[in-house]
Amino acid sequence: MVAPPAWNRSPEPFAELISADAIAARVSELGAQITADYLPLIASTEVVVLGVLKGSVLFLADLVRHIAAPIHLDFIGISSYGDATTSSGVVRITQDLSRSIEGKHVIVVEDIVDTGHTVHYLLENLATRRPASIKLASLLHKPERSEREVKIDYLGFTIPNKFVVGYGLDVSQQYRNLPFIGFVQGS
Ligand code: IMP
Ligand code: MG
Repeated sequence: MVAPPAWNRSPEPFAELISADAIAARVSELGAQITADYLPLIASTEVVVLGVLKGSVLFLADLVRHIAAPIHLDFIGISSYGDATTSSGVVRITQDLSRSIEGKHVIVVEDIVDTGHTVHYLLENLATRRPASIKLASLLHKPERSEREVKIDYLGFTIPNKFVVGYGLDVSQQYRNLPFIGFVQGS
């Protein structure tokens, strides 16, 4: 395999929290778990893997390659009113689904559940569209920040209360393409 360019390999100016190898191993386990859970359902009902833009895109791309069953992909764009690092709980849909999810099994894929406001709003909104089922996969969870109870059906990693970047997560839209997860030193 060709190594990524040096910029993507160095954790600087961040400290590495979760390595690319550790992410790959965990994502493959989650894919196997999803395969086992959904294979029995897939013959009768469509399964939609629904990525929440933009943070989930890297996780989703790796995860679906470990789901050994036919799925459909769709995306929803949401943006939270609030400052750069705190979620207000007021969420706006910036890009809606391309197809109806009525009667379908939906797996929502998120990058991180922090306060839980965003996912709480999103799951309530999606439930009104009468899918057959909704489950949540999140790469990361910061339980110390939780303000809303959210059930994560497929969780990658529980992390401490630090602001993290990489593997899809950003600070001011930057650093999403780091292959590892790092945190801002001192945060
Ligand atoms: P919540 O509504 O507080 O759960 O926040 C959810 C959203 O805030 C996530 O989908 C991320 O976009 C963003 N977010 C929360 N914590 C972090 C972080 O540590 N790094 C980057 N983005 C974060
Ligand atoms: Mg997000």
